[in-house]
Amino acid sequence: MNELGLQTGLTIVVLGASGDLARKKVIPALFALYCQDLLPEAFHIVGFARRPMTDEAFRANVMEKLTCRYVPGHSCADYMERFLSRCSYMSGEYDSRDAYLDLYQAMRLLEGDASANRMYYMAIPPFLFLDVAEALGGAGLVECGPGATWSRAIIEKPFGRDRTSSDHLVSCMGKVFTEGQTFRIDHYLGKEIVQNLLVLRFANRVFDPLWNRQHVASVHIAWKEDIGVGNRAGYFDDYGIVRDVVQNHLMQLLALVAMEPPTSFDAPHVCDEKVRVLQCIAPLAFDRLALGQYAAARFQGQDCAAYRGESGVPAGSCTPTYAAAVLHIDNDRWDGVPFFITAGKALDERTTEIRLRFRPVSSTRFHETGAALPPNELVIRVQPDEAIRLAITNKAPGLDMRLVPSELDLRYQAAFAAKIPDAYECLLLDVIRGDRSLFVRWDELAAAWDIFTPVLHELEARLVQPELYPFGGNGPESARALARRFHLG
Ligand SMILES: NC(=O)c1ccc[n+]([C@@H]2O[C@H](COP(=O)([O-])OP(=O)(O)OC[C@H]3O[C@@H](n4cnc5c(N)ncnc54)[C@H](OP(=O)(O)O)[C@@H]3O)[C@@H](O)[C@H]2O)c1
Repeated sequence: MNELGLQTGLTIVVLGASGDLARKKVIPALFALYCQDLLPEAFHIVGFARRPMTDEAFRANVMEKLTCRYVPGHSCADYMERFLSRCSYMSGEYDSRDAYLDLYQAMRLLEGDASANRMYYMAIPPFLFLDVAEALGGAGLVECGPGATWSRAIIEKPFGRDRTSSDHLVSCMGKVFTEGQTFRIDHYLGKEIVQNLLVLRFANRVFDPLWNRQHVASVHIAWKEDIGVGNRAGYFDDYGIVRDVVQNHLMQLLALVAMEPPTSFDAPHVCDEKVRVLQCIAPLAFDRLALGQYAAARFQGQDCAAYRGESGVPAGSCTPTYAAAVLHIDNDRWDGVPFFITAGKALDERTTEIRLRFRPVSSTRFHETGAALPPNELVIRVQPDEAIRLAITNKAPGLDMRLVPSELDLRYQAAFAAKIPDAYECLLLDVIRGDRSLFVRWDELAAAWDIFTPVLHELEARLVQPELYPFGGNGPESARALARRFHLG
């Protein structure tokens, strides 16, 4: 028996198995779990998609992305061979009951007489979620195993386009998979340092008393990518940066930074507090949002196309690739503290950071000039190169009293010997364990949509043109003007 203590088998059906997410993230994460003996003895992975493919072709396709991070090089080939022998593939239409009846027969054949739990990973475009869930349910694949087994569905954002469509998705999917069976992935929640946020806040006496409006002047959550939309242009143009990044990933980070301490770290208590803090945020006002779209420029020695020049983007598209928003949380802890949220593609670097700027020290006794000391900042770097840095003022070593800005710097790579798991490894293991604390509950989703739905509708109604910014730059001037308006520096 392995570490999970699972005697029951596990069949993982990856819908959309011919796609990028399945090949680059989902199946490599399952391999990583397998290498660490974290899958049940009797597990099977069945890929399902429309494209015809033999089992061998499917295995060859997924093998290219498996890595030997957890097993020594010389035995990795054996691990891969054993893992791939549990992988098979079936092609079929996503809404076809017959295809799923065939899938069921194939699963039963693999599982034999043993009982098996089932995981359905929907690595498919979002417009297919409902058809697939309904077809799976209609073919009797949900909770159809003998004995006390479970069926769980995993879906990836975007969960709808606004509050109404999100509610519709939640309610229709709920007719097949109950809320308890539905695992909505926001892969930022699986990132190591994001899981550390509550530990940092509540397991350290030095931070907890300062984490409020008396001491924090502003919070900046920044997401930057140094590439354009690439081959996801069709999808992206339909959604834009607010729906693709801000409403989900950045609101999850904000909720973890700003929520009150939960009664326990169990899923319901953590989700309750996240919902509560999101519900304290008023819908984003139109004048607290700045939007941009990248224009052609030379960056890192290459001529980079404008967003409107990307294949699959309509010539006059006004879809924003950059957004900056100022939000306020209407509660005692955060009253008056601006939360500055920025997200942009085709910027100068790839980073995600959370930055808490503390109020300046009022005393001027260290400075004869009376100039203010630089404020302390706590920076939590989510990616790449996970780190936690605290900017402080320090005496420069020497005979004079000279103050210099310095940093306390915790870099994960240097500080911890352990390998940092990929977010998908952690999330898939939690689905198997039934731990829902890193997944998005329906009411968190609703609360996050309530913040953005009115402004998204207004933008669409007014056909607002985003300000152009050069590929590889630092975003539109209007975002910097918004920051200055709220003294965000
Ligand atoms: N890729 C990522 O890193 C990433 C990150 C976050 C979220 N997501 C989300 O995860 C899901 C899957 O992502 P992905 O990048 O793997 O998507 P994808 O490659 O575009 O699609 C996955 C598979 O779905 C099928 N498919 C694609 N377009 C279809 C269409 N119009 N009609 C019917 N079937 C279609 C294709 O398989 P067949 O043609 O063989 O059926 C394709 O191989 C999406 O919901 C995406 O938004 C992806």
